Amino acid sequence: MIVVIGSINMDLVLRVPRMPLPGETLTGGLFQTIPGGKGANQAVACARLSGGGDRMRVAMIGCIGADAFGVALREALRADDIDDSHVASLPGVASGIASILVDANGQNSIVIAGGANDMLSPARINAASALLEQASIVVLQLETPLATVRHAIRLAHALGKIVVLNPAPAPTAGLPPDMLAQVDYLIPNEIEAAMLVGTAPTDAGGSAAIEAAARKLRAQGCRNVLITLGAKGIHAALANTNRHFAAQPVTAIDTTAAGDTFIGGFVAALAAGRSEVDAIAFGQRAAAWSVTRVGAQTSIPHFRDLEPDDR
Ligand code: RIB
Repeated sequence: MIVVIGSINMDLVLRVPRMPLPGETLTGGLFQTIPGGKGANQAVACARLSGGGDRMRVAMIGCIGADAFGVALREALRADDIDDSHVASLPGVASGIASILVDANGQNSIVIAGGANDMLSPARINAASALLEQASIVVLQLETPLATVRHAIRLAHALGKIVVLNPAPAPTAGLPPDMLAQVDYLIPNEIEAAMLVGTAPTDAGGSAAIEAAARKLRAQGCRNVLITLGAKGIHAALANTNRHFAAQPVTAIDTTAAGDTFIGGFVAALAAGRSEVDAIAFGQRAAAWSVTRVGAQTSIPHFRDLEPDDR
């Protein structure tokens, strides 16, 4: 089983010709509400991308509001056969939302209101310990309280699980060293990687800087670091090798959840026993597919879309 601990958001998506300037009013295009949240997206990607004879059970731990968005967000998880028994509906709290602008080049800008996600407590993780015991891989991000993520990582590590952390959004103060030391796969994008090692995000970019960031993160104890670089591919600093994986060239129309799709594909393939190199390549193919579709969960492929001969 794969257990994903994290955020569940309703994405309020508006297409715009370009990003507005401060103080400017722009007329946008199509408006859509689409299930999202990094945690839920990664759970959906794990569920859709495990396939063949190796279909994995996926469970989610998180919080939603007892509101209309919460109902829709739970239905979206169930539609992908995700175990939602540890997704709590909290009365009197709004479900998390993300306000997303997508420009004509497919680039997005996102502002989040955490709502119920901010209520995910260490006690809720303890209450799900029987579920965690059944997991082979536990996947986390940082859209829920840091203290809870830290607690969950400590518990998953103590149970001997493979811990995957997507440090998004990256905290400006970096991450506590004891937390990084219990992570098997850290998967930041290049801006998050730069922030975690204390480099200004604007200095991210050059391959030497990316390799240096990965080295520093490994020196802090993460066993493997995969830095996602969008159209430039992935820099993988694995326990036994460093390698660049070029991205498949595609015309992106919306990059929302591309990183989540990569992580879901990578984790699903790893859980199915594929090698790290195969799992990275599979995750990349899934992410390339996702950027040619609009939205978060609406853009995540199924296993059969990528491996039609091996359902
Ligand atoms: O990674 C994309 C996700 O980030 C969106 O679905 C949005 O909800 C934010 O959490």
